[in-house]
Order: sequence, then structure tokens, then C-alpha cells
Amino acid sequence: MKVRESDIPTEEVWEGFFEPFEVLSALGIDGAVVDVAEFGCGYGTFTIPAATLISGTIYAIDIEPEMINTVKDRAQGSGLTNIVLLLRDFIADGSGLADVSVDYVMLFNILHDERPERMLNESYRILKPKGRVGIIHWNYDSSTPRGPPMGIRPKPEQCYEWALRAGFTYVSSNDLKPYHYGVVFAKPEA
Ligand SMILES: C[S@@+](CC[C@H](N)C(=O)[O-])C[C@H]1O[C@@H](n2cnc3c(N)ncnc32)[C@H](O)[C@@H]1O
Repeated sequence: MKVRESDIPTEEVWEGFFEPFEVLSALGIDGAVVDVAEFGCGYGTFTIPAATLISGTIYAIDIEPEMINTVKDRAQGSGLTNIVLLLRDFIADGSGLADVSVDYVMLFNILHDERPERMLNESYRILKPKGRVGIIHWNYDSSTPRGPPMGIRPKPEQCYEWALRAGFTYVSSNDLKPYHYGVVFAKPEA
């Protein structure tokens, strides 16, 4: 079950909206992070740079074969061997990753699902204690050049409520200029 309004424009247009290394740095994704899961990797806009930063493996999930193939080609072109691509519906079938197995979950431009708690609960299940979930989304501002319709676009305070309800604790918030915000939460120690 594809997340509503989760199609993206061409790769060139999409990648014009972000400075991926700045976003990853702001959200604490660096060499101290070992294994990562990414829900909805799209063109690999953040997968490829994240793979160059972390010390372990990034599990990149997408429901669209075209997206998985694009990331596969980009990974091969960059000589990256620490990306595991999973063609999978994480809403219907979950991530398929083991309980307590990753250090970071990336929920980037994807939390506008009808039931965002599904992704947050699944993130909580697979994260190790002290593991983090990083959320980025379009600013709650109708003048952004893209983004889900305002009626379903998450506000930072909603992300906060949903994450706390799933059991996470708040870590940080970021203004990811020009069009996005970021919020990071952690799974408490057991
Ligand atoms: C808006 S794009 C964001 C891509 C990437 N996270 C980024 O920020 O560049 C959402 C991606 O999630 C994927 N997606 C949507 N629903 C999904 C589902 N149920 N299971 C797996 N992937 C899904 C879409 O195919 C699309 O590639």
C-alpha cells in the first residue's frame, strides 16, 4: 500500500530541493552511526551520501522497482558496497528487518501516511536502544515548490506527538533551508 501522495518528480527536479550532506549532518548521520534503515529511498538522494558516511550498512526500502534499480545503478557507479536494496511494501509487510537491529532510521519525506504511527512503531521495533529516528519533511508552508497537500502535510509538532506516542524521546529540531525541517528522536535505553 503506497503512502498517499508519495510520487516524486524527475530526479533532476527532486535533487534540486536538497543539500543532502547538510541534511544528514544536521540530523546526526555520520561515521559513528553503524547500520541504517531508510523507509522509501526514492532515487537514493540521501541513501548514496549516507552510505559514504556511516560505518555499516544502509537498508534502503522502496516499493517501486524503478527506484530500487536507480539506487542500484548509482551505488555501483559510486563503488558503494554497503547498500542493501529491499523491494518491499513497508506499510503492508513491515521492513523485514530484525528486532533491535539498526542504529538509525531515516523517515525522509514519507511521514504523511494516513497512519504515521505504523512507520514510527516499525522504526521503534527495529532500532537498538539509543538508536535514533530522523524525520525530514516539507515545511508547513503552502509556498514550497512541492510537498503533500497542506491538509495531510505533517507539522513538526505532530511529528513530536506521534514519536512520543510510539515511545521515543525528543533529541533535536532543525531548520533545513530552504524548504524542509528535521526532527530527531531516540529510543530510550532499555
Ligand atoms: C516522496 S519519495 C521520498 C524519497 C526519499 N525518502 C527522499 O526523501 O528523497 C517517497 C518514496 O517512498 C516510496 N514508498 C511509498 N510508499 C511505500 C511503501 N508502502 N513501501 C515502500 N516504499 C514506499 C515511493 O515509491 C517513493 O520512492
